[in-house]
Amino acid sequence: MANVAVIGAQWGDEGKGKVVDWLASRADIVVRFQGGHNAGHTLVVGSETYKLSLLPSGVVRGKLGVIGNGVVLDPHALLAEIDKVTAQGLAVTPANLRIAETVPLILPLHPALDRAREAARGEAKIGTTGRGIGPAYEDKVGRRAIRLCDLAEPETVSAKLDDLLLHHNTLLQGLGAEPFSKEALLADLLALAPRLLPFAEPVWERLDQARRDGRRILFEGAQAVMLDVDHGTYPYVTSSNTVAGNAAGGAGIGPGAIGRVLGIAKAYTTRVGSGPFPTELHDDTGRLLGDRGHEFGTVTGRRRRCGWFDATMVRQAVKVGGIEALVLTKLDVLDGLPELKIGIGYDLGGERLARLPAAPAAQAAVTPVYETLEGWSGSTRGARSWAELPAQAIKYVRRIEELVEAPVMLLSTSPERDDTIVMRDPFAD
Ligand code: GDP
Ligand code: IMO
Ligand code: MG
Repeated sequence: MANVAVIGAQWGDEGKGKVVDWLASRADIVVRFQGGHNAGHTLVVGSETYKLSLLPSGVVRGKLGVIGNGVVLDPHALLAEIDKVTAQGLAVTPANLRIAETVPLILPLHPALDRAREAARGEAKIGTTGRGIGPAYEDKVGRRAIRLCDLAEPETVSAKLDDLLLHHNTLLQGLGAEPFSKEALLADLLALAPRLLPFAEPVWERLDQARRDGRRILFEGAQAVMLDVDHGTYPYVTSSNTVAGNAAGGAGIGPGAIGRVLGIAKAYTTRVGSGPFPTELHDDTGRLLGDRGHEFGTVTGRRRRCGWFDATMVRQAVKVGGIEALVLTKLDVLDGLPELKIGIGYDLGGERLARLPAAPAAQAAVTPVYETLEGWSGSTRGARSWAELPAQAIKYVRRIEELVEAPVMLLSTSPERDDTIVMRDPFAD
């Protein structure tokens, strides 16, 4: 299989960064196709830890990184991230990073609107990362967005700012927030142009060429299927399609080029922000998972909510996300727990459901039906072969495969790049 797409199969932070970094050794190009700097991908390589939000994780391997048109790009966040990794000894230049010229930009007014709206929602807030992702996608669909290519045309930027400010200042003032001045925004964008434009190109041409040359493309998803704007726990979702199908539209390549779709899932479940979470644990076990798994947001520092593995939900993600095989991560976090539970269905007022209902009140009201498995006393931490795993850990993985109706191709047993068990090479046919 020439190409591989990696997507999250739960609510994000499954370890996509580690897996993409691992797979990148076998790929030529790594492409981000949706989301923005709401993503936080952590890669541990020896003594160095990289925290990436916008840069495709493949750049750490020295591979070509591509930011596709389906992403929303905050120029200041990008430049700050480039400066950060440069200080870690990783040069990012147009030689190893290319950005779709059609990518819509996140402007300072987007996070302002994101935060003002969240504040106005009060208790009902989505719990966004506050980075302007939602408002930037709204402007793209509303045909108001300033795109990277526009920076080469100052008069276009000026005219678009008039349109944008008419819309945004009205909203911001209605929400009691400060309006923006056109002069400041225009000066900022024009000052950024010389640093950004050298990265811009029609990346679809490069991807088409790569495909014809038989080079391997790795599509790096951000967020996860349950945060997908169509298929997730709406409205507690992000504002893009996170499913693998969007890799085509978000990069400018045909659907046949996506290749094998891998879904990344933790051996338990976490979620940041608000919204339903049927298998959430509010007890000591939940706290233990959070502490052991270091479950704090890479982007926001917020404590992640933790709970048991929800096979019903991951099975649903497998179906709607087109997931062919799973990568199971953080198995080591479960080491030593006397018993483990797996969600195998939901109960809604006495009725048994095999999927998450779509309507919000029903979604919030379901309670999980559990199957209980024996834990293991040995350690899986750092295991690099199947033979090193305790028998009960193998049973746990096998049961997950049965329940979610997808095989496990890779198993991750620590944050470190090489602590990975390969069941089958995802790039092999
Ligand atoms: P992403 O957003 O999907 O890339 O995931 P994050 O990087 O936000 O969160 C995953 C966290 O788990 C990071 O801190 C990783 O270093 C860490 N991690 C990844 N795989 C494993 C694993 O198998 N075991 C443990 N203990 N940590 C892991
Ligand atoms: P990675 O790629 C986990 C969540 C936010 C919030 C909701 C909407 O690291 O897995 P947004 O700012 O996107 O409008 O917020 O989505 N969220 C994530 N949760 N991992 C992420 O990315 C996330 N990106 C957004 O917490 O609930
Ligand atoms: Mg993350």
